[in-house]
Amino acid sequence: MPKLTRRSMLAAAAAAGVAGIAGGFLWSHRPRPGAQRAEPPFVADPAFPNPLKLPGADGMNGVLDASGALTMVAKAARYPLLPGKPAAILAYETEHQGRTLLNPLLRVRTGAQLRIKLWNSLDETSIIHWHGLKVDSNNDGHPHYAVPGGATYDYQFTVANRAATYWYHPHPHHLTGKQVYRGLAGLFIVEDEEEIALQMALDLALGETDIPLVLQDRRFDENGQLVFKPTAEEQLHGHYGAEALVNLTPRPHLAAATRLYRFRVLNGSNARLYRLAFRQGDLLLDYHVIGTDGGLLDRPRTVKEAFLAPGERLDILLDLRATLPGESITFVSLPFDAMHQEMAGGAAHGSADHSQHGAHHMDGAQSTASDGSALDLMRIQVHRRVAYDRAIPQSLSNPGPVPESTFSPRLVVLDQARGRWRINGTTYQDDATPIVVRQGSSEVWDIRNVRPSMPHPMHIHGFQFRVLSRTGSPEQQQRLAVTAAGLAATDLGWKDTVLVWPGETVRIVTDFSHPFRGDQVYMVHCHNLEHEDGGMMVNLKVTA
Ligand code: C2O
Ligand code: CU
Ligand code: CU
Repeated sequence: MPKLTRRSMLAAAAAAGVAGIAGGFLWSHRPRPGAQRAEPPFVADPAFPNPLKLPGADGMNGVLDASGALTMVAKAARYPLLPGKPAAILAYETEHQGRTLLNPLLRVRTGAQLRIKLWNSLDETSIIHWHGLKVDSNNDGHPHYAVPGGATYDYQFTVANRAATYWYHPHPHHLTGKQVYRGLAGLFIVEDEEEIALQMALDLALGETDIPLVLQDRRFDENGQLVFKPTAEEQLHGHYGAEALVNLTPRPHLAAATRLYRFRVLNGSNARLYRLAFRQGDLLLDYHVIGTDGGLLDRPRTVKEAFLAPGERLDILLDLRATLPGESITFVSLPFDAMHQEMAGGAAHGSADHSQHGAHHMDGAQSTASDGSALDLMRIQVHRRVAYDRAIPQSLSNPGPVPESTFSPRLVVLDQARGRWRINGTTYQDDATPIVVRQGSSEVWDIRNVRPSMPHPMHIHGFQFRVLSRTGSPEQQQRLAVTAAGLAATDLGWKDTVLVWPGETVRIVTDFSHPFRGDQVYMVHCHNLEHEDGGMMVNLKVTA
């Protein structure tokens, strides 16, 4: 933007700002409808022409306050991912009180009892996994329970988790990546008293100022249809798309006001990592991490950037009180070293190699589709001044104590042999249980990623764990440390998925207590869905 234009725009915005304060002052003492100042008309930035899709009362990602019984039909549908080009997708459809929702955002209270029927109307097997929920193995969506097309599966469970942003997605072995990629995924937001108190304190409303942002990269053909045909190389690295979608919206904008916004970010991508930041001009803005996978932290942590790996969630506040109408902020993924070095002599096989896979420039010359490349995810256009006097609470929640363990750490090694990623030297076998733990025990695991390797977001079903330390971290991770043990803000609180870089050892502790009767079989796997489908997954048996 030429200097003069920008300066005159700022001047105009500043003038509008002064009028706004005066108007607000007058209004609060002597309501006069005529005193309202004119807002600058909202004009979407042409580089971000599409309004961000927000969860509403129905349709895609509509909000469903779930309690009791509900049927979700996994089916083929059409949906314009690219504007004007209805794409063949898959979605969970549900009818609720006369409304039809696709991939409903399920909102529940802690303690709610749910009965959910999955009706698999696909032409292949499927099953729903409730990512992050503490349920028994019958309700976990383990691939063992996948049902064929035409069949149903009944879930019945009590939501025991604390408030957080969880999610659900299919989990049939070898098909998870494809089914998620084609659209099957939704959010599962749990609320409890601490959460409601925060919403009241900050005047947050879901879909308006409390906004889920689901990040997914996709590849399209000329007709706007999804392309998913991983090559052997992509099965090894993961499947990357050239277009970054936020809430299934390509190049979205969000029209915002001068107040606090909460974003619940889910990395719902098959393989891509994001290094999340908010950029205004050349500046990276501070933002506040208030929660991670398993809910609110004890207190907010202020950061300028954070890595978010597939499966992970990040709950953040962005403060737009100091911005002026007319200013805009870009939600970006900053470039980083993706460390795809799994071949011997890996440096030559770095992330730049991916640019050959249907990559195109998204916004600016350096942006390609490769993992680790710069991406502009969303433009936040501030266009409205509002009075907002709430402050970020210094204390958010009581996450409870870190479990203590008397066992010596269990080693979980991530490596690769003959083109397959492994966990402790094995790949997935339905009937094998390489990891057995005792119900009620707490175990420390050292998850060690060899080098050369690739980043692996490691996920445990059925439990939330705490991250104790990171050692051997690459510099780009190390410099985000907020504790002496090397943890980043994204490692704090309760987690179900943790990123492990090549050469790194991440120590976690899990309390394997649960209230269910008998042995339970869960899983441990990499949430890079191509790795998972390729067998980087093992059963975890919790014996009674
Ligand atoms: Cu979200 Cu087994 O995964
Ligand atoms: Cu899971
Ligand atoms: Cu992996």
